Amino acid sequence: MTTVYINGDFKPLSEASVNVLDRGFTFGDGVYEVIPVFNRKIFRFDEHIQRLENSLKALYMDNPLTKDQWLNIFNQLVDASEALDQSIYLQITRGVTERDHDISLADSPTVFSMSRPIVKKDLSSGIKVITHEDIRWQYCDIKAITLLPSVILRHKAKEQGAKEAILIRDGYITEGAASNVFIIKGDTVFTPPKNRHVLSGITRDLLIEILSTNNINCLETPVEPEQLFDADEIWITSSTWEIVPVIDLDNKPVGQGFTGPMWEKANHFYQEFKKQYNN
Ligand SMILES: Cc1ncc(COP(=O)(O)O)c(C=O)c1O
Repeated sequence: MTTVYINGDFKPLSEASVNVLDRGFTFGDGVYEVIPVFNRKIFRFDEHIQRLENSLKALYMDNPLTKDQWLNIFNQLVDASEALDQSIYLQITRGVTERDHDISLADSPTVFSMSRPIVKKDLSSGIKVITHEDIRWQYCDIKAITLLPSVILRHKAKEQGAKEAILIRDGYITEGAASNVFIIKGDTVFTPPKNRHVLSGITRDLLIEILSTNNINCLETPVEPEQLFDADEIWITSSTWEIVPVIDLDNKPVGQGFTGPMWEKANHFYQEFKKQYNN
């Protein structure tokens, strides 16, 4: 039985429900986070809560809970599951109002959280991705629950036997539909800089830190599609997928067409960091 948190209560998932006039349902008016738990430890809690604060602020919302209250909820959800590796999902919507765009009608957000086991697919031999125009909105730095473009993009990727779509906007790579992108040329790693069209990925930021600690040159710089197609290696990152090598881009091999040596190194350093991590 999965236990979830909804508006102050812990309940079995099957008993948790929200009002149909919740603005999350009628407008997609809310934000979310996905926080990984590795070996039963919540990973990069502070960073995820900071990003949550940023998303809420951008939508003129206050955080309904303190950091300690969040930690307490997450700990209870994690404890309720036996899985070593879990993925905590949290969602805050602007709450229940009549169906009117006016946000001043809302005075009580809906807060939901659950933790599910991470079912690890072994992607270490590399995945296939497609490229696609970035069809999302202009505020991709907000982790908004309104994910229809990403849902469509992932479906387009799937239709072509791929796992992710790498997005191109105004002649530059932004990110994946639900991941950040790194490319490798020679011994240098490149990743697009954070801006309105790139989510501030927690795994992205951590990987940049880890690369720097291990003296691997990583540049946050605009990346053009030509560089992507000419890359020796491509990686995509996210909290639950971690660092995944891309071996096929639009049906063409990336580099030699198999997992590259820089990925082996970076992934090794990342896994070591995880092992030593304590909240
Ligand atoms: C659009 C987008 N970019 C990047 C990421 C990766 O972010 P993180 O490493 O914090 O999971 C995600 C994760 O879901 C995402 O949806």
